[in-house]
Amino acid sequence: MSEHFDVHGGARLVGEVEVVGAKNSVLKLMAAALLAEGTTTITNCPQILDVPLMADVLRSVGCEVKLDGDTAHITTPSELSHRADSPAMGKLRASVCVLGPLVGRLKKAVVALPGGDAIGSRPLDMHQNGLRKLGATSTIEHGCVVAEADGLHGAQIWLDFPSVGATENILMAAVLAEGTTVIDNAAREPEIVDICTMLTEMGAKIEGAGTSTLTVQGVESLHPTEHRVIGDRIVGATWAFAAAMTRGDLTVTGVNPHHLELVLEKLRLAGADVTTFDGKGFRIVQPERPRSVDFVTLPYPGFATDLQPFAVALSSVSEGTSMITENVYEARFRFIEEMVRLGADARTDGHHAVVRGVEKLSSAPVWASDIRAGAGLVLAGLCADGVTEVWDVFHIDRGYPHFVENLNRLGARIERVATEPERA
Ligand code: UD1
Repeated sequence: MSEHFDVHGGARLVGEVEVVGAKNSVLKLMAAALLAEGTTTITNCPQILDVPLMADVLRSVGCEVKLDGDTAHITTPSELSHRADSPAMGKLRASVCVLGPLVGRLKKAVVALPGGDAIGSRPLDMHQNGLRKLGATSTIEHGCVVAEADGLHGAQIWLDFPSVGATENILMAAVLAEGTTVIDNAAREPEIVDICTMLTEMGAKIEGAGTSTLTVQGVESLHPTEHRVIGDRIVGATWAFAAAMTRGDLTVTGVNPHHLELVLEKLRLAGADVTTFDGKGFRIVQPERPRSVDFVTLPYPGFATDLQPFAVALSSVSEGTSMITENVYEARFRFIEEMVRLGADARTDGHHAVVRGVEKLSSAPVWASDIRAGAGLVLAGLCADGVTEVWDVFHIDRGYPHFVENLNRLGARIERVATEPERA
């Protein structure tokens, strides 16, 4: 049985919505729990599908994991298995983040290649090269990354690109390596700062979190901690775009507005009134039709590639023409094909898209290809004439806790419908 959403057009979203912990942080923090024997507690966990999947990944290497509402208790034994090749591995990208901790602790890991969103090529060369610099061998064998070392030692590592996942894996191996590791051109995302904070609470010695250079002084061992996940800036931004697109008035709490500075600035340029509440959230009011704005995706603090579908969706209903440039994941423009079904005037050329805003979109059946594309289609459906069917909503469930409930509470009309899809 597959599910779809019936999204009724013509909504104006008004009210307050709370954002919980970040998907792209919690999954890595769960992996970090492998680094310390004992029980690590993680709070403010989002209730999304990927959290129990990651729990299964950890169980498969020997951990006991208890999920209790928004809290995860992870008990890591002294003896872990180095093989992480359970079926859960292939269902999410973040599963690959057990590689660094397993190599760090056991000096050996066999980790199934991860799954996750089909948003373009997602190689692991930088993860592997980083581990090699730390003294491990790394190959791909029978669908798994295999890494092995006699001992790990500190090294100078330059990343070709500030990859989030490679920074995390190298960091989690380096905290238990002997000596000093310097990761240059490291990712600077708030989720990287979050994992550095947690690792530091566990006894790791890390300097430079949030900058391009991370310096890690290896320690003998780490201890468990209790850590609260940072608010999900991508979900927070989704609500900001939802307000702008529906000419609404939303107060969004539970997210640090400093993590969204560029996003909120773009929405101000589109005509929104934005007020921020230090460290806590923001209010966004869109009094009239949005004006077109250009967007360029880049690693943080640039405009996040995960928000590109929302940039396209907003541009589709804005006054004027927008240019959107995708620099991180080439296949993310697949979303535009679905937007065209909804009447968007959009075309792509390489990694640029040109979107001419239309007064109103027109409802149609559409298919979510990944988490953010799915949420983007729901927002577009709110601005379309009639009822838009959004299919493959399991993608949305992987990233947005209580999405439909929240939208309905804020003034939208959306039903979750269980049926078999019929695609023409
Ligand atoms: C994470 C996020 C994802 C987000 C992305 C970029 C998670 C679970 N996912 O993914 O939502 O869109 O950051 O902000 O946190 N690359 C290589 N070789 C490597 C690693 C990456 O070429 O070894 C390339 C990728 O193909 C991509 C770019 O680097 O073009 C960025 O990828 P990366 O930052 O690693 O993304 P993820 O950590 O997979």
